Amino acid sequence: MVPQKFLEIQRWVAGQVSPYRLKHIQGVAQTAVRLAKRYGLPEEKARLAGWLHDCAKERTRAEMERWIRKAGFRMDPVEEKMPALWHPHAGAAMALLKWRIKDKSILEAIRCHTLGSPKMDPLAQVVFVADFIEPSRHFNGVNQVRATARQSLKKGVLAKASITIRFLFEKRMKIHPRLLETWNQFLLEH
Ligand SMILES: [Fe+2]
Ligand SMILES: [Fe+2]
Repeated sequence: MVPQKFLEIQRWVAGQVSPYRLKHIQGVAQTAVRLAKRYGLPEEKARLAGWLHDCAKERTRAEMERWIRKAGFRMDPVEEKMPALWHPHAGAAMALLKWRIKDKSILEAIRCHTLGSPKMDPLAQVVFVADFIEPSRHFNGVNQVRATARQSLKKGVLAKASITIRFLFEKRMKIHPRLLETWNQFLLEH
């Protein structure tokens, strides 16, 4: 991608979200690049996916729905009832339709950043983990997850999945089956 287009995307993302979220997005991009370097993955793709992963997060439900429909993306019936899970799909739709990003691995990394997927490729794993451990995250145990992600990307995926599942379970909140599938699959692979 030409540097000019990347600058345009950065400027646009900054206009889509609150300063609080922008800080998170910058942190995810920075962390994704660091992990990509560590694991020999394309840094530019990691940076771009990091910048775009939450671009739709502050759009209304109606706007998100419109983008998802326009891109022809499908959500499963469980996701359809959970609007908090729409922004990854809407973000990928914006990346595709507004910015003409056709690289499947970048779009998948954006789409899978919240629930993961049992079939995530390494770039998607990087963004999934970076979303959880970027510098402005401050939950109990975050440093342990950062250390784990430095040792093994797949173990980093497992750490995010298990902590998120435990959190949702303890709060008696719904757990999307794909998050559990991510956990099950990476348990076999790591
Ligand atoms: Fe997100
Ligand atoms: Fe995020």
